[in-house]
Amino acid sequence: MAEIRLERLHKAFADFVAVDDVNLTVEAGQFFVLLGPSGCGKTTTLRMIAGLELPTSGTVWLDGHDVTTLRPAKRDIAFVFQLFALYPHMNVRRNIAYPLRSQGLPSAEIRRRVEETARILRIEHLLDQPIGRLAGGDRQRVALGRALVRHPKCFLMDEPLGTLDTAFRELMCEELRDLHDRLGATTVYVTHDQIEAIAMADRIAVMHKGVVLQVDPPAEIYHRPRSLFVAQFIGSPAMNFLDCEGRLGRGADQVRVAGTTAQVPALHEDAPQDRLVFGVRPEHVRLDDAAGLRGRVYGVEYMGSRQILTVDTEAGRLRVRAANTARAEIGDQVGLAFDPANVVLFDPHSEAALQSALIGRAGHG
Ligand SMILES: Nc1ncnc2c1ncn2[C@@H]1O[C@H](COP(=O)(O)OP(=O)(O)OP(=O)(O)O)[C@@H](O)[C@H]1O
Ligand SMILES: [Mg+2]
Repeated sequence: MAEIRLERLHKAFADFVAVDDVNLTVEAGQFFVLLGPSGCGKTTTLRMIAGLELPTSGTVWLDGHDVTTLRPAKRDIAFVFQLFALYPHMNVRRNIAYPLRSQGLPSAEIRRRVEETARILRIEHLLDQPIGRLAGGDRQRVALGRALVRHPKCFLMDEPLGTLDTAFRELMCEELRDLHDRLGATTVYVTHDQIEAIAMADRIAVMHKGVVLQVDPPAEIYHRPRSLFVAQFIGSPAMNFLDCEGRLGRGADQVRVAGTTAQVPALHEDAPQDRLVFGVRPEHVRLDDAAGLRGRVYGVEYMGSRQILTVDTEAGRLRVRAANTARAEIGDQVGLAFDPANVVLFDPHSEAALQSALIGRAGHG
């Protein structure tokens, strides 16, 4: 187990900044996810932790030691890529044993560690199979095995489930998390898939354009996004955003949405007083005939356990997660109600959430 700390880590390719002064700490034993859209700098960050890429500036600390310029082999970190390269002419046993052979360990010890690794990954029965005959998921396990067998201080994984189909990804997600809980090695896991991130992470760092926007546990990221980008990137269907006006004076706890008044958590006097963005997740919108905010049902998507209604209001289009028993048809007029505690307001200019400006809540500035 090891703590990884990135201090003002910066990487530019010519004049393009791929990673922009990133600061973050991955605590020993944590399952930490780097999440963000394609091109946001996840792989580059991971490669700098591994020592495969030299930062332009900044420091990589591993258990309090500056390893910024240390060769990868000296870092005791194992790396699992999306397109992992197994040796096709070797069987499973020899593939897993490979890193230990190159370290020159005695063969009895290699045998013991390979068998232990195969047991953990439940691939003991495949040890003598040629790689070419394995299914995708089993190859993935062998690739993991080659990382595990080294007993490294940390694992870095770059979209290791990227090529698998959905059902298998879900299974492997659970297995990886379970494996992590048994071994407890610090893990940094890169993905652009928010569902994977939320399901697996102890903490998530959301990246966008080389910048880390928020680092928090999944529930905090989900319920208290600090910016519009994080709010819209996390959650499926995504958070709804409506135009609203907050010109109601200091300590106000009401805003105007589509000509009606909506209760929101009280705003601090520093909050912008005019146009705001009103954010609410689909599961936090209720159909309520008595509600002031009205809309017309534009779409109904029946999903078995629930249905997703799309409703057009004067302030914008909104998705509502309704019970599967709710009776709503396309064209119906409906009322929409919210619990103020579940509303997040954003400044449309800075795109920052105004939670930090709310009265009576812990600061998130
Ligand atoms: N060697 C390089 N030379 C020039 N630009 C690079 C190099 N490596 C990465 N980049 C650029 O840096 C940015 C970040 O790349 P990176 O691979 O870290 O993104 P990512 O978040 O891993 O994306 P993806 O989800 O697509 O894998 C991209 O715009 C990429 O084109
Ligand atoms: Mg990448």
